[in-house]
Order: sequence, then structure tokens, then C-alpha cells
Amino acid sequence: MARIVVLTGAGISAESGIRTFRAADGLWEDHRIEDVATPEGFARDPELVLRFYNERRAAAAAAEPNAAHRALARLTQAHQVTVVTQNVDDLHERGGSRGVIHMHGTLNGALCARCGHRWTAPRVMQVTDPCPACGAPASRPDIVWFGEMPYRMAEIWQALRAADLFVSIGTSGNVYPAAGFVADARHAGIATLELNLEPSAGSRLFDAARHGPATQIVPAWVAEMLAAA
Ligand code: OAD
Repeated sequence: MARIVVLTGAGISAESGIRTFRAADGLWEDHRIEDVATPEGFARDPELVLRFYNERRAAAAAAEPNAAHRALARLTQAHQVTVVTQNVDDLHERGGSRGVIHMHGTLNGALCARCGHRWTAPRVMQVTDPCPACGAPASRPDIVWFGEMPYRMAEIWQALRAADLFVSIGTSGNVYPAAGFVADARHAGIATLELNLEPSAGSRLFDAARHGPATQIVPAWVAEMLAAA
């Protein structure tokens, strides 16, 4: 039984029909990060920001987990697996994974920008929605924006230090701290593997890499890991 930390990004959900961020037709082509993914953007135009995430929430609800999400859930049959995701969809959970760490938050969560209270987001969030705790009309999605600290970092670093293998799936390696996990793993002497459509920004830092669509290369790798266990 190996201890495996898996980091996932938008690429694992791409074949479920969810747009990635940095592709030629990605989300950051039609939206400016400063407008929809920063606290300053939310303060300027909360309606625009809520509309952007309402659309993302609807797209995630309409999507189904794919063979890569389901394969990762099977990996737990023989290994101790910690799934850390940058994704804000719930396709890992719906694909059968438990205890997923959503380091960039989730579309299904709401957060009060005034008092910090958290609750389950309605399907459509509106600027007039009052916070259930303090009553302020300051509801925002519980998503980590640029300039904010990702969630559960201490737990993630602890899992990385205790791991035998770090695997990065479907992420371009542009956003820190997640993009730095491969270097952290290397310093800790842990084996590293990249599974991505194409070489990521940090591809050369990995001990090994396999390139192709997640629905093909992830189930194939999981089958090997289960056979070898
Ligand atoms: P990106 O859009 O930056 O990168 C997606 C990666 O997935 C790219 O390297 C693609 O080549 C790869 N990819 C695309 N389709 C794939 C497929 N079918 N199979 C395998 N790989 C595929 O998305 P992330 O790296 O997840 O943060 O982006 C990181 C963060 O930047 C996001 O969490 C988001 C964004 O700004 C916030 O919103 C806070």
C-alpha cells in the first residue's frame, strides 16, 4: 500500500464538458481574472462575479464525472490516497472519492464577505441574499480568489511530506502554491509523476510524465497501480 497524494486541476474535468482556464477557448479568454476572481473585482461589481459563478455552478451540476474521476476513486482499493483539487466542481465526490481537499474552495459553498460565515450556496446566488448569520447582503461564492490564501495548506503539506508518490493530473502548473507541490515533493525525496494532456509549465521537474487525455491515461495508470499492489 503506497501513500499517494494526487493533485488535480481543470484538465481532469475537461472531458466532462467543463471549460478549463488557460486553453485557447478557456475561461480566462472571455473573462478578466481581475474582474471575476479577485476580492477587488467582487467589491467593484458583485453582480458580474455572482453571474460568472452561477454559470459555473450550473455547468458543474449539468456535468457528469468521467472515467478519470472514477479511476481515482478505485485507487483507494489498494492505496492510501489523498486527493487535493484546485477544481471547484464536485465531480471527484460524485465519482466516488471521499475526503477530497478543495484547496480553491467549492461552487457549492457560500461565504459572507462581511463576517466570514459559511453555508451551502443556493443554485443561483444573488447580491441581495442576506448572510444567514449576520444578515449582511454580502454573499460571495466560497472560492479562493487571487490574492487569497488557499484552504487547508497545513494538511496538504503534511500529507505531501508523508507520501511515497505525488501525482499531478490536468493542471497547467501556473498557479501557486499548487504549482510548487512538485518541487516540495522533490525536496522531500518523494517520487513524482505528471499526467496531463501536454507538458505543463513545470513538466521537467517530474521524475516521469505521461501525456494524453485524462480519461485514457488516468484509468491506465490506476490499473497499473492496482495490479502492482
Ligand atoms: P488550466 O486551465 O490552467 O490548465 C488545465 C491543464 O489541463 C492544461 O495543462 C491542459 O493541457 C490540461 N488538459 C486539458 N484538457 C485535458 C484532458 N482532457 N486531459 C488531461 N489534461 C487536460 O487549469 P488549472 O491548472 O486547474 O484558480 O488552473 C489552476 C487555477 O487557475 C484554477 O484552480 C483557477 C485558475 O485561475 C482560481 O480560480 C482560484
